[in-house]
Amino acid sequence: VIVDERLIAYINSLNQGENPFLDALEKEARASYVPIIRKEMKNFLRVMLKMQNPKKILEIGTAIGFSALFMAEQVKKDCKITTIENYDKRIPIALENFKKANRQEQIKLIAGDALEVLEKLEDPFDFIFLDAAKGQYCSYLPHLLRLLPEGGILVSDNVLQEGELMESHFIVERRNRTIHKRMREYLYEITHSQELFTSVIPLGDGVTVSIRR
Ligand SMILES: C[S@@+](CC[C@H](N)C(=O)[O-])C[C@H]1O[C@@H](n2cnc3c(N)ncnc32)[C@H](O)[C@@H]1O
Repeated sequence: VIVDERLIAYINSLNQGENPFLDALEKEARASYVPIIRKEMKNFLRVMLKMQNPKKILEIGTAIGFSALFMAEQVKKDCKITTIENYDKRIPIALENFKKANRQEQIKLIAGDALEVLEKLEDPFDFIFLDAAKGQYCSYLPHLLRLLPEGGILVSDNVLQEGELMESHFIVERRNRTIHKRMREYLYEITHSQELFTSVIPLGDGVTVSIRR
């Protein structure tokens, strides 16, 4: 927990909820321990999307489609969303959810390892939401920069590892050290890149917003 839990509870109490389908899907995901965006991330993403008004969104990490469907609700109908997922069990559930919400034309799921998929993508995206394998963020970065035009927005989720990222490498449990090192590298890269301006925000599990210079 990065921010006081009572404060988070208070902030989340201001949340109005979405449509009945999304609310039910969110509840179902949380009840079955499918990792989806935190409640406080929803309003943040919504505001980002309304500011950017993207025509093409790329999401890395679909899970069962909650955030893709949430984003689809915030943007204009002609905005296309491409989302990448490699977990066999989640892919059919996400596809089914897109169908149930009648968003199958708007949201395209690409099944496969994110890095392999990213290598093949060519057309630009004006909004990228990165929410997948935390240890891989650095290897995704060259592709994200290639796919992001000037003024494009990159939002990366879960970057502060519940605050553990501020701790010394030696205090972090051995099994978490690789991810700790890699995430620090990612944050260093995106905050020092000549191609991005980045803000690191202690919201949810830590989020960054970058704009392509
Ligand atoms: C935090 S969840 C995504 C949650 C989703 N964005 C939401 O809020 O509804 C991360 C997802 O990334 C997927 N993932 C992890 N590593 C991946 C990889 N290398 N390639 C593609 N997907 C990956 C996981 O299977 C998992 O479903």
